[in-house]
Amino acid sequence: MRYLITGGAGFIGGHLTEALLKEANNEVVIIDNLSTGLMSNLRSVINDKRLQFIEADIVDMEGMDDCVKNVDVIYHLAAAVGVELVVNEPAKTIVTNVHGSENVINAAVKFDKRIIIASTSEVYGKSFKEKFSETDDLLIGCPTHSRWSYACSKLLDEFYLMAHYHSHKLKGTVARFFNTVGPRQTGKYGMVVPRFVASAVEGKDLSVYGSGTQSRCFCHVFDTVRALIALADCPESHGGIYNIGSHHRVSIEELAGLIIAQLNSSSKIMKISYDEAYEKGFEDMMHRAPDTNAIEALIDWKTKLSLSDIIKDVANSIQK
Ligand SMILES: NC(=O)c1ccc[n+]([C@@H]2O[C@H](COP(=O)([O-])OP(=O)(O)OC[C@H]3O[C@@H](n4cnc5c(N)ncnc54)[C@H](O)[C@@H]3O)[C@@H](O)[C@H]2O)c1
Repeated sequence: MRYLITGGAGFIGGHLTEALLKEANNEVVIIDNLSTGLMSNLRSVINDKRLQFIEADIVDMEGMDDCVKNVDVIYHLAAAVGVELVVNEPAKTIVTNVHGSENVINAAVKFDKRIIIASTSEVYGKSFKEKFSETDDLLIGCPTHSRWSYACSKLLDEFYLMAHYHSHKLKGTVARFFNTVGPRQTGKYGMVVPRFVASAVEGKDLSVYGSGTQSRCFCHVFDTVRALIALADCPESHGGIYNIGSHHRVSIEELAGLIIAQLNSSSKIMKISYDEAYEKGFEDMMHRAPDTNAIEALIDWKTKLSLSDIIKDVANSIQK
């Protein structure tokens, strides 16, 4: 099979590329502008002749059609990602995530290709439920808070894909990732696990934003990649939306404590306000956990790796 991965030099894209190239008959084409992605994420496969890397921007790329027409499956992962990046560059976030996705989805429609797009648990917004399922109503915050532009832009991608599924029978699927973590993820754009682990390894204070009672579920990227690969082969998923995430919910303060304990670190926990960490009036959701019944029923998928595996793998990767 021949795969196109937009954002293939990113954190999830790099792991997906490695996993796909483990199969002898697979080939991978990557389109990435290296904005948050790194060639080092592809270090183990960069000399593989079955990998083609194209440095380009999905927003204004020439030659998208040529890339798409020669592949069997498209994974569309390229996006502006990370709370800090989204808050600091809201206009760029919208252009990348809306126009960029439009270009990729249009090409998939034109050549009738299988496409899986990456969406996010952020689309559930500020709802007070503790567990979110794909058919839930969504409660997005006001546009004066730029953090919601990410959720809205990703939601528009979902609607756009669904529109083409209904109008053109596009073989499209939406994967809504909940916090996905693992080796090589950078804490640079606001991802909490690599940020905490890096601080713990260096013996620096771990900065918990807000009260620390907000909770999240962290899924190992290897589990996420397994789901993505299985989804590609599953025609029943066309026109479907699937949560992909772990059930193990942990508060952010608890997470900081677990990381310090597991890494035998001398670091302390320090609390700072959201206003100080991000922007005045920053809004966060208290709890976010996925209902994964849909994907479990579809492809018999369950997470295999624990939070402790995640901490170990992230720490090893940072220490390397
Ligand atoms: N990591 C998570 O917890 C998480 C959670 C929810 C959703 N997602 C989604 O998963 C996908 C992958 O995220 P990730 O965590 O690997 O982030 P990442 O930043 O590592 O990967 C995104 C990749 O897209 C590339 N990119 C960005 N804009 C581009 C453009 N205009 N043209 C071409 N390439 C571009 C970046 O260089 C990067 O390699 C994204 O769509 C993201 O929204 C991730």
